Amino acid sequence: MENETKLKHFESLIDADSNIEPRDWMPEDYRKHLVRQISQHAHSEVIGMQPEGNWISRAPSLRAKKILLAKIQDEGGHGLYLYSAAETLGISRDELIQQLHSGKAKYSSIFNYPALTWADIGAIGWLVDGAAIVNQVSLQRTSYGPYARAMVRICKEESFHQRQGYEIMAHMMQGTPEQQEMAQDAMNRWWWPSLMMFGPHDTNSPHSGNAIKWKIKRASNDVLRQKFIDKTVQQAEIIGLTVPDKDLKWNEETKHYEHGEINWEEFQSVINGNGPCNKQRMDNHLKAHHEGEWVRKAATAYALKQNQSVKQ
Ligand code: 3HC
Repeated sequence: MENETKLKHFESLIDADSNIEPRDWMPEDYRKHLVRQISQHAHSEVIGMQPEGNWISRAPSLRAKKILLAKIQDEGGHGLYLYSAAETLGISRDELIQQLHSGKAKYSSIFNYPALTWADIGAIGWLVDGAAIVNQVSLQRTSYGPYARAMVRICKEESFHQRQGYEIMAHMMQGTPEQQEMAQDAMNRWWWPSLMMFGPHDTNSPHSGNAIKWKIKRASNDVLRQKFIDKTVQQAEIIGLTVPDKDLKWNEETKHYEHGEINWEEFQSVINGNGPCNKQRMDNHLKAHHEGEWVRKAATAYALKQNQSVKQ
């Protein structure tokens, strides 16, 4: 009986578009769904620092290096906001990291592709962060309070990430034929994996039913993907890049671009660990985690000492 009353109250908050806060009673499945999604979001932010980190020492100018450094630092901060949001659901940081290392928790498949040239840094900022923005702007209205508030802060920084990537691509498309070719090559390699960031089609999305019911997702995978395509194809055309999709065509009636089928076999294969960089990304994360153990220990010891001195 008691749980029934609590469930009714929870549902009335969801129906009223009120945020669910950590102190509120919530169905265990709602909590588990959020831990899964928020932790994977956090893991994606942190792992996503690797492909771009490879280019800090090879940025073509001091300005480019400063922008890239700022962006990568932002991503680390996004990871921290999101880990903190996940911890409000009663799971520890250690457990979250352990789930990543054991493979129990995923991160976005997009980060298992290599950043081969400087144009990839442009494509990542423009396409990957551009896709992330479409998804994250929608998540600003997610029902779980800490997650929604983290999104507001992250989206402000994400817009700069997308603009700096687009600026790199626009610059290269006004450059030499070799630079234009480099930009088009990056576009060809990052376009389809960016579409995969929105997840499987709604009909194949096991979590979307609950996600929409509990207003964790405010729009479906396919709706957000379409929004990204409609916006990005026009941006590509403005700077002279070709979208690598022979079936892409504008539908005057629906006012949307129709597009070719995504390679879901590739999507599943990369998620299952067979992407070009899966092993490298995890090896790097494990190495950094191990080498950073002394920092965590020192920070914990300091916090403990602080607590003890406050109590005295
Ligand atoms: N990569 C890896 N796994 C993916 C995926 C992708 N691109 N898309 C879906 N999946 C997984 C899901 O996690 C789920 O597996 P699980 O049960 O093991 O968790 C399965 O495929 C089925 O997908 P669903 O659509 O049913 O799952 P969701 O309802 O969770 O939707 C999602 C998937 C749209 C990615 C959703 O989780 C979401 O919106 N997450 C928050 C945003 C996010 O994580 N973005 C990742 C990139 S972050 C980023 O790019 C930062 C930028 O600053 C660089």
